[in-house]
Amino acid sequence: MKGILLAGGSGTRLHPLTHAVSKQLLPVYDKPMVYYPLSVLMLAGIRDILLISSPRHLDMFQALLGDGSRIGLALSYAEQQDDGGIAEAFTVGADHIGDDSVTLILGDNVFHGPGFSTLLHEQLRNVEGAVLFGYRVTDPERYGVAETDIHGRLLSIEEKPACPRSDLAVTGLYAYSNDVVDIAKNLRPSARGELEITDVNRVYLHQGRARLTVLGRGFAWLDTGTYDSLLQASSYVQLLEKRQGTRIACLEEIAFRMGFISRAECHELGLGLAQTSYGRYLMEIAEGPVKAT
Ligand code: DAU
Repeated sequence: MKGILLAGGSGTRLHPLTHAVSKQLLPVYDKPMVYYPLSVLMLAGIRDILLISSPRHLDMFQALLGDGSRIGLALSYAEQQDDGGIAEAFTVGADHIGDDSVTLILGDNVFHGPGFSTLLHEQLRNVEGAVLFGYRVTDPERYGVAETDIHGRLLSIEEKPACPRSDLAVTGLYAYSNDVVDIAKNLRPSARGELEITDVNRVYLHQGRARLTVLGRGFAWLDTGTYDSLLQASSYVQLLEKRQGTRIACLEEIAFRMGFISRAECHELGLGLAQTSYGRYLMEIAEGPVKAT
C-alpha cells in the first residue's frame, strides 16, 4: 500500500494567513498541520509516501520533512501545477503508485480517536475498490455527503449538495485499489473545473465496489477551513495534550511505537530538540516503557 498526502490548493479561504504560507504548514497548536494527516498514514503502517503540493510551497515541505528517513519513512515529492482537483493526485502520483493500492489523505484533515490505528489496519487490509470514512456533522453541505441504507450500505454520494440527503460527511481519507489511476485518467473536470474525488467515488459506487466506515461519536474529525475552526483545532489538541501529558500526531513517537525507528533514534531526535517540551517528551518516551499509542 502506497500513501499520498495532498497538500496543495491556494488556501484562499484563510487569507491573509495563507497569503505567503501553505495552509498545511500553519500551526495546529504545537506542530504544523501536515503532521496530523501524515501521522494517520504512519498509524496505518504506510511508509512509502508521496507529498504533492503547489510549486511555490513544495520547498517548505521538503525543508520540514526531508526524505523522511529520520522517522523511518520514504518520502518523495511532486508538484501539482494548478488546483486541478483532488483526484489529480492519482495522475500526478501514478508512477509512485505503480502496481500497488493507495491511501490518499488531504493535508488539512485532522483525525483523532481511540483505536484509530487498529481500525485503519482492519479497513486498509486487501483494499478492493474504494474504502471511505464517514463522519456525522451539523453542516454536511460543506462536504462530500454519503447516503446509506439501514444496513450502512452506500446508496449515493454527492459533492457539497444544497439539500444534503444525510448528515454523513465523507472525510478526506480514502483508500483505493490500483485501478483508481485509470479511473482518474478518464475523469472530466466538474463545472468548477476540478477533477472531483466525489466523481471517483461514484464510479466505484456504481460498480458496487465502494464501502464506507462511519467514525463514531468518540472520534474527532476536526475542521481547519475557517479562522474559528483552526483555533478550535489548536484548542482541542492543547486541551488533550495538557490533560493527559501525551502528544497527538507526534511523528517521532509514532515512528518509534510503530517500530520504524529504534529507541536510541527516538532519543536522539528528542535530544536535537531538547530546548523544547516537544523534544523532552520524545526523550521521556524513548526512556520509558513501550505503551500503546
Ligand atoms: O475534507 C473532506 C472534503 O474534502 C470532502 O468531504 C469533499 O468531498 C472533498 O471535495 C474535499 O472538500 P473541500 O471543500 O475541503 O476541498 P478543498 O478544495 O478545500 O481541498 C481540500 C484539500 O485538498 C485542501 O487542503 C487543499 C487540497 N487540494 C485541493 C484541490 C482542489 C489540493 O492540494 N489540490 C487541489 O487541486
